[in-house]
Order: sequence, then structure tokens, then C-alpha cells
Amino acid sequence: MNPTLFFYTLFLVFIITIGTIATSEDVVYDVTGKKVLNNVPYYIGPVVWAKGGGIKLTDTKNKKKVCPFYPVQDPAEVNVGGQFSFTLVAKQEYLLTSHILGIDSGYSKSSCDQSTFWQIHDAEAKAPSNLMTTGGSFDSSETCFQVVDYPKPTSSKVHSYMLQHCPSFCGAGPHTCFNVSIHEEKGVRYLASSGTPFEFVFQKVK
Ligand SMILES: *[C@@H]1O[C@H](CO)[C@@H](O)[C@H](O)[C@H]1NC(C)=O
Repeated sequence: MNPTLFFYTLFLVFIITIGTIATSEDVVYDVTGKKVLNNVPYYIGPVVWAKGGGIKLTDTKNKKKVCPFYPVQDPAEVNVGGQFSFTLVAKQEYLLTSHILGIDSGYSKSSCDQSTFWQIHDAEAKAPSNLMTTGGSFDSSETCFQVVDYPKPTSSKVHSYMLQHCPSFCGAGPHTCFNVSIHEEKGVRYLASSGTPFEFVFQKVK
């Protein structure tokens, strides 16, 4: 091979590699290694389904009916939980990490639930004000989230993520991102803006 052609080929390989890294790193993958689709229902649950199952909505807290609802982790590990659509503010085919999105429960279970988007009312407050609930409106500071790679994944075989709440990315609010974490109260595992970050995987709804 002549030197010019050699360097040209090397350059081309370099460009292709950079391109592949740049596009593949951003995309979110489900538990089977397939790209997660934007605005399509998925189950979300822990990497090891030992401390409970997937995330579902509950309309009950401390044996009282509540409105809006709370996303909680199903105590039974066999349960995949509810279906949730992660919807990027920007129009995209696949879900991307570090991009602003809303999480939609997809349907209204009762008349009290005007909107189905997950929200955190006051991320800097203590529970219950910093607990995740439904009832938010899309693309507002309360419903502003992003998916990021879990920093120290439990397993190297699956892609696991955590959710961050970044109010100021969508409107007014604290100029920081809060890790969405498990907040346990009376044995119920809620989602909140403080505590141990919740590491989760996406599982496609069949
Ligand atoms: C979010 O979680 C990561 C990983 O556990 C941690 O390094 C970081 O300090 C946390 N951030 C906040 C604001 O708690």
C-alpha cells in the first residue's frame, strides 16, 4: 500500500470509530441489549430482582387513598410493575442519556389524575415533599428528568441507569441535578430526590 493511501485508510478508520463511539454511547439500551425507543412503554426495575420487583403506581399511602399517585417499587420480585414511557423533549427515535425527558404513566387511572407525568414538587425538601408523584405536566421544572449511566453498575453484562431530576433544565428551580433514589417508609419503597440512587434497567413490554 502506498503511504498516502495508508494514511488515508487510517484516517477513515479513525473517523468511523469516533462516529460509532459518539452515537452508540448516547443511546439507552434495554436489558436484552436492544436500543430503548423514545416515547414507548417499558417496565423499569432493579438489576437484581431481589429487593422487590419493578416500579408501579400506587393510589394508597399509609392505608389512605392518595391523589396524585406514587410510583413505588413492587414488593414482590416476580412483578414487573407498571408501564412507563420515557419521552424526550426533543423529537428522537431512541432514548438518549443526558437528554431532558418526561416520564409518562400512559393512562389515567382515575379522574383525580389530570396528568400522568412523574414529578417531584420540591427536590430540596424532605419527604413527603420530595417524593415522586404523578400529576405533573410535560416539560416543566417539576417533571424535568434525565437518564444517566449508573456510575458503578451492579453487572457488567447489562446496561443499568439512574434517573436525575434537573429542575433548572426545564424552567425555574435549583441549578443542580438530584439523584432519584429509593426512600423507604413503613416498608414501602418510594422514589425521592435524596437517598441511595435507584439503579434500574429497561424491559420492553411484550
Ligand atoms: C449521585 O449519585 C452518584 C453516584 O452514587 C454520586 O457520586 C453523586 O454524588 C450523587 N449526587 C448527589 C447530588 O447526591
